[in-house]
Amino acid sequence: MKKQNPQTPFSQSVLQKINQLKEYMSKSSYTVVFSGAGMSTEAGLPDFRSVGTGMWTQFNPLELASTTAMKHNRDQFIDFYRYRVQSLKECKPHEGHYILAEWEKDGKIQSIITQNVDGFHHAAGNRRILELHGTLRTCHCSECGKTYPIEQFMGENVQCNCGGFIRPSVVLFGEALPEGALHQSSIEAKKADLFIVLGSSLSVSPANLFPLEAKRQGAKLVIINMETTDLDNKADLIINGEKIGDVLRELAK
Ligand code: APR
Repeated sequence: MKKQNPQTPFSQSVLQKINQLKEYMSKSSYTVVFSGAGMSTEAGLPDFRSVGTGMWTQFNPLELASTTAMKHNRDQFIDFYRYRVQSLKECKPHEGHYILAEWEKDGKIQSIITQNVDGFHHAAGNRRILELHGTLRTCHCSECGKTYPIEQFMGENVQCNCGGFIRPSVVLFGEALPEGALHQSSIEAKKADLFIVLGSSLSVSPANLFPLEAKRQGAKLVIINMETTDLDNKADLIINGEKIGDVLRELAK
């Protein structure tokens, strides 16, 4: 559909959806945001599955981001994660991250469940964040569990005093998600009367079970994602084809 008004990047039909979401937010008493890699592409980080640019369209995650890779492909594993940590240093949260932080301060959202490991929600000022897939902001010993600043992983010595391998504190393919984050995310999904997905293909479990858990107990499910997702048929409202930053800016007006 032709863009109606040069002052806004949105068509009339998208503006109607954004106004519908504004109404949901104004009536909600417990709003939970669920973010994926699409939340950070406007900060300069690639996502995983976007056609052509997603990381897993260039690399094979099982060869680089799995427990098998950590054990049997260690040099490439180390190079891959050092590359990702270095990319983080060159990027920072975008305006959309700061809008979410404002919304938490104003009581408009109650928590963020994130699949992202970039730490951008913390850096932007949110406090109630559940990191389902760990973080690239620290590393820890695979044997004794001792935590180190991420600089240790970027340096020469990745061997702990106990002899274990010091690895980034992200959840690898083949590893269980952190119990605490899973438990708290389930509590948040159950309390939500509005559950807003920002930038996720919703193709990875068990993370993609939380939107369903929220929906099942009666929350309105909203999905804002450039492409269609695996859970679009469960959503009350879907905004495809728009950048999250643009939509959040419009919502924040
Ligand atoms: N605005 C809106 N949507 C966007 C934007 C943007 N600026 N940029 C990307 N997207 C959308 C893409 O269309 C894509 O569908 O974000 C989605 C990101 O999906 P994935 O790349 O699959 O990322 P995610 O859902 O977070 O992946 C989940 O998979 O590999 C694991 O641990 C990794 O946490 C990750 C998990």
